[in-house]
Amino acid sequence: MIVFDSVYKSFDGGENYAVKDVSFEVHEGETMVLLGSSGSGKTTVLKLANRLLELSSGSIEVDGEDVSTQDPISLRRKIGYVFQGIGLFPHVTIEENVAMVLRLLGWSKKERREKAHELLEIIGLDPSTYANRYPEALSGGQQQRVGVGRALAADPSYLLMDEPFGALDALTRDTLQQELLSLKEKLSKTIVFVTHDIFEALTLGDRIAVLHDGNLEQVGTAEEIVNTPGTDFVRELFEKPAKQLRLYGDIT
Ligand SMILES: Nc1ncnc2c1ncn2[C@@H]1O[C@H](COP(=O)(O)OP(=O)(O)OP(=O)(O)O)[C@@H](O)[C@H]1O
Ligand SMILES: [Mg+2]
Repeated sequence: MIVFDSVYKSFDGGENYAVKDVSFEVHEGETMVLLGSSGSGKTTVLKLANRLLELSSGSIEVDGEDVSTQDPISLRRKIGYVFQGIGLFPHVTIEENVAMVLRLLGWSKKERREKAHELLEIIGLDPSTYANRYPEALSGGQQQRVGVGRALAADPSYLLMDEPFGALDALTRDTLQQELLSLKEKLSKTIVFVTHDIFEALTLGDRIAVLHDGNLEQVGTAEEIVNTPGTDFVRELFEKPAKQLRLYGDIT
């Protein structure tokens, strides 16, 4: 479980806050979607959880332990991170990209190769074709898959995914969303998934946390948020999609 308790983050010594008084819990096995427009604080919230950023006040617990007291390296071992944008290393092969963290953990070359091939199978890239290619020889969607594979390498219990399908066409995005859903069934991870796309949020989230201008507007299931919006912002955000969803019978 991840618990955010009254978390604040300022980048300028307290004049402005990118994240203000944010509190919510992500339960074991749950996918929590952080939904918000550009600049609302989504990436900041993720990076506070694995200490790529340090918080200004409040606290974050992972597995019942305050992250500020945990060694950042072992913290990041149990929390896989898929970066916004793709962020593969251009000068090493796909296999080595996927196995990067295992190298840091001291796995032998043979062990790393075996695990990388296993992960490539999981993310739907045939190792015999792709393992020895460089990132530039993969399509955008394939590179995104590698980003997911890399985050899974150390078999973390938690996955933080920052707009992992953001730059893809609608069809590829659809396919990867479905794959993530079945991957989640198989691997039973606890996931925090960032997006600015309402339909992606509704497809993937067990619950959705709506961020606006650094404030957490509402946390709830799709049904709760659509039927009982907590703020004017949330109501307006979901007004149009809600009509469409009712049309298709996805919510009642
Ligand atoms: N390192 C930084 N230094 C100063 N300000 C920052 C820094 N990182 C983020 N911010 C500011 O904090 C706010 C939230 O940024 P954040 O990256 O969390 O937004 P986001 O919701 O992820 O947006 P996007 O959808 O565009 O990725 C923005 O106003 C941004 O300019
Ligand atoms: Mg972001």
